Amino acid sequence: MSAPIGTNINKAAEYLAHRGLVAIPTETVYGLAARALSAEAVARIFIAKNRPRFDPLIVHIGDVAWLERYASEIPGKAKTLAERFWPGPLTLVLPKKEAIPDIVTAGLPTAGFRVPHHPLTLALLTQLNEPLAAPSANPFGYVSPTTAQHVADQLGDQIDYILDGGPCTVGVESTIVGFQDGEPVIYRLGGIAVEEIEKSIGPVDIQDSSSNPAAPGMLDKHYAPGKEVRLGDIEEMAKGATEFSILSFQTDWSHLHPIKQYQLSATGDLSQAAAGLFEALHDFDQSEASVLLAEIFPEEGLGRAINDRLRRAAK
Ligand code: TXA
Ligand code: MG
Repeated sequence: MSAPIGTNINKAAEYLAHRGLVAIPTETVYGLAARALSAEAVARIFIAKNRPRFDPLIVHIGDVAWLERYASEIPGKAKTLAERFWPGPLTLVLPKKEAIPDIVTAGLPTAGFRVPHHPLTLALLTQLNEPLAAPSANPFGYVSPTTAQHVADQLGDQIDYILDGGPCTVGVESTIVGFQDGEPVIYRLGGIAVEEIEKSIGPVDIQDSSSNPAAPGMLDKHYAPGKEVRLGDIEEMAKGATEFSILSFQTDWSHLHPIKQYQLSATGDLSQAAAGLFEALHDFDQSEASVLLAEIFPEEGLGRAINDRLRRAAK
């Protein structure tokens, strides 16, 4: 039976109190939440998602001030970023206090923290006055959900309740920033552009690779629909291809007669494109097309996160 979908925060809190799993809306993607302080509840997340135990979860907190309760060390630049971008699509990886069970962090001494920017989830966190551990609410390796319906389709029979906060406005996962010898390092490109982060704290290193042991879970083949995605020059790829759909930034490719066209922003707005990306991948997966031909986006702003997700989907 698929979990009920609704907007009842009290109901969500009730399930969570009884070690339940609740899908929560955020501005990036939907999360699959359990009480972070209950190892038993958190274990259920790994089972529902079929997620390997070495892949740590993000701890969602209700306010910047909560950081002191759960992080044992907060570098100055972390504080600056938290104050500038929270609530928002930024995760900070910091040494954790003991209250956060090891299962949440896959045994790492650090935890990823973020204050999500969504009124329903912020109200839920305030009511609980406790953090929620939540990875994206998709089966492991699959495209993240950006609507309550995506969650219901993928994991509905595994969870207790889906809190419906409408379609996600940012549409790609949070940017993850960690610290090595006090210096900031980006572990995952995401909803806050590198340029924005550098404006706030100066130059940052990008170590966004699956081989980075500091950021487990960044597997190459990730964010992938069930069917083939090809990335490159649309006209070249369309030659000889059959039953294809096209995903583009601004360009109208209808003269190539794709089964379906996903033109993410006719006006050239990368934020708008990011917001529609996963919806397009979900739709492609459900469609009759057998292959998706995707453009490479401009390597700037949110275009970098979009390209990162498309490259992983195309592996
Ligand atoms: O936008 C988001 O971040 C969404 C929403 C729900 O908040 N969450 C999300 O979670 O994308 P998930 O589980 O799909 O990705 C979490 C990733 C892990 O795979 C890992 O790469 C990184 O966060 N992470 C978490 N804790 C970490 C830690 N202690 N050290 C390094 N990386 C960590
Ligand atoms: Mg994920």
